[in-house]
Amino acid sequence: MQIKSFEEYKNTYEHSVREPEQFWAGIAENFTWKKKWDKVLEWNFKTPEIKWFLNAKFNITENCIDRHLPAKANDVAFYFEENEDGKPNKAITFQNLHDEVCKLANVLKNFGVNKGDRVCIYLPMVPEAVYSLLACARIGAVHSVVFGGFSAQALQDRINDSSCKVVLTSDGAFRGSKKIPMKATVDEALSACPTIKKVLVLKHTLEKVNMVAVRDHDWETETVTQPPVCEATSMDSEDPLFILYTSGSTGKPKGVVHTCGGYMVFTCYSFLNVFQYQPGQVYWCTADVGWVTGHSYITYGPLLAGATSVLFEGVPNYPDSGRFWKIVDKLKVNVFYTAPTAIRALEAAGLDFVKPYDLSSLKVLGSVGEPINEEAWQWYHKNIGKEKCPIVDTWWQTETGGILISPLANITSTKPGYATLPLPGIQPILVDDKGKEITGNGVEGNLCIKFPWPSIIRTTYGDHERCRQTYFTTYPGLYFTGDGCKRDEDGYYRITGRVDDVINVSGHRIGTAEVESAINECTAVVESAVVGYPHDIKGQGIYAFCIVPKTTKTHEEIRQEILNSVNKIIGPIAKPDKIQIVSGLPKTRSGKIMRRILRKVAEGEIHNLGDISTLLDPLVVEEIVKGKI
Ligand code: WTA
Repeated sequence: MQIKSFEEYKNTYEHSVREPEQFWAGIAENFTWKKKWDKVLEWNFKTPEIKWFLNAKFNITENCIDRHLPAKANDVAFYFEENEDGKPNKAITFQNLHDEVCKLANVLKNFGVNKGDRVCIYLPMVPEAVYSLLACARIGAVHSVVFGGFSAQALQDRINDSSCKVVLTSDGAFRGSKKIPMKATVDEALSACPTIKKVLVLKHTLEKVNMVAVRDHDWETETVTQPPVCEATSMDSEDPLFILYTSGSTGKPKGVVHTCGGYMVFTCYSFLNVFQYQPGQVYWCTADVGWVTGHSYITYGPLLAGATSVLFEGVPNYPDSGRFWKIVDKLKVNVFYTAPTAIRALEAAGLDFVKPYDLSSLKVLGSVGEPINEEAWQWYHKNIGKEKCPIVDTWWQTETGGILISPLANITSTKPGYATLPLPGIQPILVDDKGKEITGNGVEGNLCIKFPWPSIIRTTYGDHERCRQTYFTTYPGLYFTGDGCKRDEDGYYRITGRVDDVINVSGHRIGTAEVESAINECTAVVESAVVGYPHDIKGQGIYAFCIVPKTTKTHEEIRQEILNSVNKIIGPIAKPDKIQIVSGLPKTRSGKIMRRILRKVAEGEIHNLGDISTLLDPLVVEEIVKGKI
């Protein structure tokens, strides 16, 4: 499955476009199927309806685990590095992984979880999180992982949206020097989740938690008595594998649905080709399992490829900013995949945290989640890769399931800030605002994909029309990514950022509408408008303009109220960095907020606000500019 040269890449790409079905069928031959497909692809971007490997039967966990046994029984699947520095690493072999996944799958079955049922996973980055995803997949249950940084309210909404039956959680999580309650948050969320029948609670931080009789069960007690075998349920290629909620430009987060067959084929293929992973290497992706990167490139992709990975519970700056490099040195990591926000934060901490460590094991570096600025790219290249490691700047989305545009390590020549070229099977196209294709090189436009790939989003849970509206109607006949993009003279792609109302804060997608609605819950605020602005470490920060009528409260009190409200409704990740109290917002005569102006103010471009003559009240702008933070 691995491409070995740029020449081969070009030929493979050309073949994948000319005969996509034959191409992907060839790749799919590398997996274990109980029954092969009758047809490779059926698709229609209008409805949309996309099916890959029709009527094939298999189970993804047999491909992630059983297929590697007994040959790899004693090979390490995961080295677990705890939050606390200095603890010995736990090494989880493929056999251990098999046994733990089967035991947990049996617990789920005893809880009454059947094929197709939804299971919510709300856990820190511990091995049990990976076991949980796989245990669900083993029995055909659909996992819905909710990032541990989301609040009780956000968790409740997600559980209810997909009517989950069971929650898998822990007493708490370690985050640097802090302990974060997890079970208490689950308890609060479950005050209004009628579909939840059982909660399995892992003892981790050993904080005392409240256990509700009948509903709540101790992880260890339940799993320890289970046999380490569990037959893998036969799944259809197009049966759902998981739901992952993600923010868009409007309304509440939507549950992106991925199905079993195409997702398996694409995550494994992209993992092997982008990182050029070689047997025996140690691979480390620092993402959280709560995001799609943790699904595709911590759990499924690497396991499908039989890779050895590092699982890290902690944060980059605890106990100090050398933690990543210390782990690379200790575990002799060969492939390291992280986010630009982490790189910028570690760059700011200084080279004294890098120097003590031997990073000579590194062969390939990766970046994901947001555009990487040239300075961070150069720092990463020089100080971490010692100018010897290619950087794969991987562009993709929750909806794409896997990496679509990226260099292939040591094969595609890189350029700072460029995701470079599409993977085989991926057909990007740039269009102008009217949907007209922009051809040639040295151009810029909205990034769309014109042909399906195996791990493309199938639907948004419970609301197919929303999927159609969001991704397939803006430019009919195309999948619209929501990203702006340049194609340079060499035909290389550079993603410039979102063109919709989505902010990318430290690689986390946050919808402005969501933050606004959380802010508007504050009694002090009558209306708000949220925009992104460039932030040195986070990539983008959140700037909130809030209308607060006359009040006896101080600005600081109002600010706290706003922060508390966002924290409660979404979680700490969505807290605004800047809050400006205003008496009005720039609106058109039809009442639409002109975000373009607010964005300019937030970016500090106050002398270049563009045409404001269509505003209902141009004076508002003057006030806003004066009050800029
Ligand atoms: C952005 C994360 C530039 C982009 C895997 C996309 C990137 C959104 C890159 C998806 C990259 C991701 N260069 N921008 N290499 N990777 N993005 O769903 O705006 O959390 O639309 O998936 O992140 O974020 P998501």
